[in-house]
Amino acid sequence: MADDAAARLFRGGVPDAYERLMVPLVFQPYADDLVARAVSHTPSAVLELAAGTGVVTRGLAAALPPESTLIATDLNDGMLAVAERRGAPRPAGARPVAWQAADAQALPFDAESFDLVVCQFGVMFFPDRPAAHAQVRRVLRPSGISLFSVWDSIATNAVALAVDEAYRRVLPDAPPNVITRVAHGYHDPETIRADAEAGGLVVVALDEVELIGEAESAASAAAAIPRGTPLRAELEPYGPEVSDRIEAITAELLEQRFGTGPVRTPIRAFVVTAHR
Ligand SMILES: C[S@@+](CC[C@H](N)C(=O)[O-])C[C@H]1O[C@@H](n2cnc3c(N)ncnc32)[C@H](O)[C@@H]1O
Repeated sequence: MADDAAARLFRGGVPDAYERLMVPLVFQPYADDLVARAVSHTPSAVLELAAGTGVVTRGLAAALPPESTLIATDLNDGMLAVAERRGAPRPAGARPVAWQAADAQALPFDAESFDLVVCQFGVMFFPDRPAAHAQVRRVLRPSGISLFSVWDSIATNAVALAVDEAYRRVLPDAPPNVITRVAHGYHDPETIRADAEAGGLVVVALDEVELIGEAESAASAAAAIPRGTPLRAELEPYGPEVSDRIEAITAELLEQRFGTGPVRTPIRAFVVTAHR
C-alpha cells in the first residue's frame, strides 16, 4: 500500500477511537510541548496541517494571544468532525478555530498568509514531503516558521513495538504494517532535514524529544493502535478475530513489561523548527 492510501485510512471508527485511546497515550504530551514551542514565537496568524482530532489545536486555541488567528486543516473529514465536536463549546478564553479540509501538498491559501505553520505527526503520511514543505514555504510570510514533528523508530515506542510483534506472530506472511512502514517509517534525521530543505525551508533545529506515554492499563494501551489508527483498516480484511488476537497478545506483552497497573513508558520523537 502506498503512503497516499495509508493517509486516507483515518476513517470509519478510527477518528473516535483515535481521540479516546491514541491521544492520551502518545499525542497529548507532544501536543503540550509543541504548543509551548508555537507560543514562544508569538505568532499572529497560525495554520495547522494534519490537525487530526485537534489535540494541538485545542492547546493553541487556549494559549495563543486573543488577537491571533488559527486555521486547522486535515485531509480527512472524519478526523476534523471529531476535532470540531471536541472543541465545542469553546472554553472560556479560547479563540475561535476555523476548520477546513485540506491536503498539505496542495494548500488552498494565499502566499505569505501565515507566520507559523504547525504539523504534529502528519509529515510521515505525506507521499510527497518536499512538495508539502514547498507549500508551507509558499504560505509563510518572509520571517515565518514551520514547526513539525515525526516519530523516532518503532524501537523507541514500547506499545507500537508490542503491537508489531503481535502482528507478526498472528500474520507471519503479511507485509509490513502501516505502523512500521509509515507512522514509524520516517525517522532518519538527514532525510527529514533534506526533505524540508528540498521544499525550500531552512532547518534551524531538529530536537530529539523523549516524553512519557500513559495508559490506564496494558489492555487499554494494547487496544489503542489496532482500533485508533490506519492499522484498523489494514486488519479489517482478516476479520475481527485477527484484530482481537493481536490486541490480546499485545496486552500480554505489555503486562509482562509493565505489570497489570497503569502503563507509563518513554517514547521518542523528532521536533523540527524550520525558517522560510
Ligand atoms: C497521526 S495523525 C496526527 C493528528 C494530529 N496532528 C495529532 O497530533 O493528533 C496524522 C493525521 O494526518 C492526516 N493526514 C494524512 N495525510 C494528509 C495530507 N496529505 N494532508 C493533510 N493531512 C493529512 C490524517 O488525516 C491524520 O489526521
